[in-house]
Amino acid sequence: MKILVIGTGNMGAGFVKQLAAAGHQVAVTARDIAKAEAIAGQYNAKAVPVAGAAREQDAIVVAVPSAEAVGALRSVGDIDGKVVIDITNPLTADYLGLTVGHSTSASEQIAQALPGAEVVKGFNTVFAQVLAAGANFGGGQKVTVFPASDSERAKQTARTLAESMGFQTMDAGGLKNARYLEPLAGLNIYFGYGAGLGTDIAPTWIHRA
Ligand SMILES: NC(=O)c1ccc[n+]([C@@H]2O[C@H](COP(=O)([O-])OP(=O)(O)OC[C@H]3O[C@@H](n4cnc5c(N)ncnc54)[C@H](OP(=O)(O)O)[C@@H]3O)[C@@H](O)[C@H]2O)c1
Repeated sequence: MKILVIGTGNMGAGFVKQLAAAGHQVAVTARDIAKAEAIAGQYNAKAVPVAGAAREQDAIVVAVPSAEAVGALRSVGDIDGKVVIDITNPLTADYLGLTVGHSTSASEQIAQALPGAEVVKGFNTVFAQVLAAGANFGGGQKVTVFPASDSERAKQTARTLAESMGFQTMDAGGLKNARYLEPLAGLNIYFGYGAGLGTDIAPTWIHRA
């Protein structure tokens, strides 16, 4: 698949690394093209300028702060009909809370601002360190990605990408369920940092056969 990653921070770099390793054609863009070139050079990817970066891409991973997501997506050109994978968590500055919730979510706000895009929530419960190290925790345990979207195509795209990178997936329903996934990431952050478990953790679900 042809994937554009916007952002070269912890998550952006992790996506470029793992998507390229899974055999996808990965383009990376950033407001500082030198940072995109550095990441692209490290992995098997290409750096592209922001303007027009969305062209010919099958999907876009938005790996910037939640409050910057709509602006970053607008900056890459026409994204009507594109699958947008929203990995963001709308965290407060101290990472201890969420700036939106209950009656909306970061994902729904992105979808509302960019009605032509097919937005899917996912990967927001995966720590950057887990993304970089890989989804296989050993002993048959794989990290779960929970795709939530109103677009079946977007959900299928997120599922395909996640599984190609070694994650297991669990269908999390419509985009509205981002209202649950964003707080779940908050709990994961509490366990990782507040409770001191570290970042080599991930939420999953068990299911009696
Ligand atoms: N870190 C995690 O474990 C984790 C896990 C799940 C989800 N997430 C979510 O993933 C997203 C990225 O997190 P991160 O940890 O990768 O953050 P990060 O390391 O701070 O990287 C943020 C990236 O966003 C770019 N950026 C910031 N403002 C921008 C703007 N206005 N326009 C374009 N690009 C902009 C930054 O560019 P510059 O280098 O130019 O500043 C940088 O490349 C966040 O929404 C976060 O909530 C993070």
